[in-house]
Order: sequence, then structure tokens, then C-alpha cells
Amino acid sequence: MISSIAQLEEAALAELSAAGDADALEQWRIRYLGTHGRLKEAMTGLKDVPKAEKPAVGKRLNEVKATLEQAFAVRREAQAATSEGGPRIDVTEPGLPAGLGRRHVLSRTIDEIVEIFGRMGFSVAEGPEVEDEFHNFIALNIPPGHPARDPADNFYMGGTEEGSKLLLRSQTSTVQIRAMEKTAPPLKVVAVGRVYRPDTHDATHYSMFHQIEGLYVDRNVTMVDLKTTLFQFARAYFGPEAEVRMRPSFFPFTEPSAEVDMKMRIKGQWQWVELGGCGLVDPNVFRAVGYDPEEWSGFAFGLGIERIAMRRYGISDIRWLFENDARFLRQFG
Ligand code: DAH
Repeated sequence: MISSIAQLEEAALAELSAAGDADALEQWRIRYLGTHGRLKEAMTGLKDVPKAEKPAVGKRLNEVKATLEQAFAVRREAQAATSEGGPRIDVTEPGLPAGLGRRHVLSRTIDEIVEIFGRMGFSVAEGPEVEDEFHNFIALNIPPGHPARDPADNFYMGGTEEGSKLLLRSQTSTVQIRAMEKTAPPLKVVAVGRVYRPDTHDATHYSMFHQIEGLYVDRNVTMVDLKTTLFQFARAYFGPEAEVRMRPSFFPFTEPSAEVDMKMRIKGQWQWVELGGCGLVDPNVFRAVGYDPEEWSGFAFGLGIERIAMRRYGISDIRWLFENDARFLRQFG
């Protein structure tokens, strides 16, 4: 009996080292250590062993069992580590969420607004964020000494000579000038972009924000065209009950000028929100770009993108828009 146990052990270890893959290892386990395996069989045979030999045979069987189990565990671990797929993957487990990114709430607002003006025939114009005084002020009828040019209200960047200093643009109205310089009238463009002002950051102020500028130049353009355009935009963007209100105001580059309010739904309530300015292009602006003010007329408007997005989505602090906290951004889009 003892010698047949030795044979069993020897054969088992030889076969174990020959088992080449996970399947072969499992076959081996069933054959030797399984409930109906050879070791179990030998243990069942113990009852026929003469009484005197039983303790020795039993002890030996237990030793072989421990040896085989340990050898098997070592082999299986080695096999799992080297096998190509590594640990088995259970394809029926529900997966982890794929963590998709999304458009920033401002990018989405900009896309939607530009799309609506696109449908109304406006093409998109662009201009640089680092501007010169000509495009940011002079051509827009803002002469030297005008309070809007105060160094405390602008990010001047260099240049000492009055008139040729560079600055981060304080308004997208600069793009009106750039578009007219490049294109002969008639003209119908919108421009969206960042503008910069040295404001102290708080819930409603930030040193950088976005504006959308509109410019339409043609023959016989009137305030009616302007109001109709803004009204159509408001209906398309804020819904069928939206309205537009203009309040008399002053801007150097328009005459007459007005403040624009739009009525939009905020948390279920229709409310007036001030969004920017507008007016008919001042003849001096046309002269600055070489358009004949006797022949051409036009309207312009400039609206704040953050104001639109914040009111529409109930965002009460502008700083959240620029902190890029995923927990905040995830709520939109
Ligand atoms: N540029 C003005 C601002 O930043 C907004 C503005 C007012 C733009 C009237 C216009 C306009 O085009 O006609 O405050």
C-alpha cells in the first residue's frame, strides 16, 4: 500500500508538471484532488488496510494530499500570471460607466446662438484678441481721452505712442471694423469671442468673458430691421413667448443707441434680462473703414454670452463657468 501511494504521488507530480495550460491544470485537479479523484479513492481504500498498518498509511496519504494540493496551488498561480489574458474576464459583469466628456455649457450656448443667426443669413467673422487702439477705439468713434480708454478699465499690453498701443480687446465691436475693412458692403456678420476687462472677480464680474456682436450693412437699414432681427433671435432661442425691449442709451459707435433686454423664462417665470447694447451704425464708423455713409446704413448689436447662459441655466456665479470643476460642468448638456 505504501509503495502504491508513492507511485500515485510520483505520477501525479509528473502529470502536473506536464499540464501546459489552464484547462489541463483543471483536468489534473479533477483527476487527482477531485471528489471522485485518485486520492479520494486511495483514502476510501484505507478501510481494507490491515489494522496495524492503518496509522502509517493514513499519515502517508495525508502527506501526499498536502503535497499535491500545494504543488497544484503553485502551478496554478504561475499559470495565471503567465497566461496571455491574465486573470479571466467575466464578460457578463455590468461594465464601469465610460466617463464621456461633454461640451462646456458656454461652448454649447455659443453654438446654439451662432446657429440661429446663421439661419437668419449672418456669416461668422473673427478678429484677434490682442488688438490695437485703432480697432478697439478710434475706428469705433471713441476718441483719445474718452473714459472708455482709461488704463484702469483696459488691459494695455505695450506700445507707448498714443494711437498705436496694443491691448486685450475690451469688446467684440472690434470685429465690426475688421469685417468692414475686408469686405465691401452689403455685409451681414456675427462675431463671438472673448473680451477682457480688469474687473475684480465676484459672482457677476470676471476679467474675461464672451460677447456676440452682430453687424448688418445695406441700403436703407432701420431700427425696425434691428428690432425684428433681435426679436426673431429671442423667439428662436428662448421660446415662442420671448420678447425684446429697447431702452434709449448711448454708445459712441451707434446713433441712435439702445440697451437690449430680452424676456426669457427663468425657473418657469418670464423675466426681463438686460443683455447688451445695439443701435444704427454711426456715420463716423463707416468713414473710418471707407464706406460711404450717404449710401450705406446698418445696425449693430453686442450681447453678453455669460449673461444669457447664466440666466438660462440658473447659474448664480460667473466664476463657476471658468473653474472647470467637473461636478459643476456635468450638470449641463
Ligand atoms: N460694445 C458694447 C459693450 O461692450 C456693446 C455694444 C453696444 C455693441 C452697442 C454694439 C452696439 O454693437 O451697437 O458694452
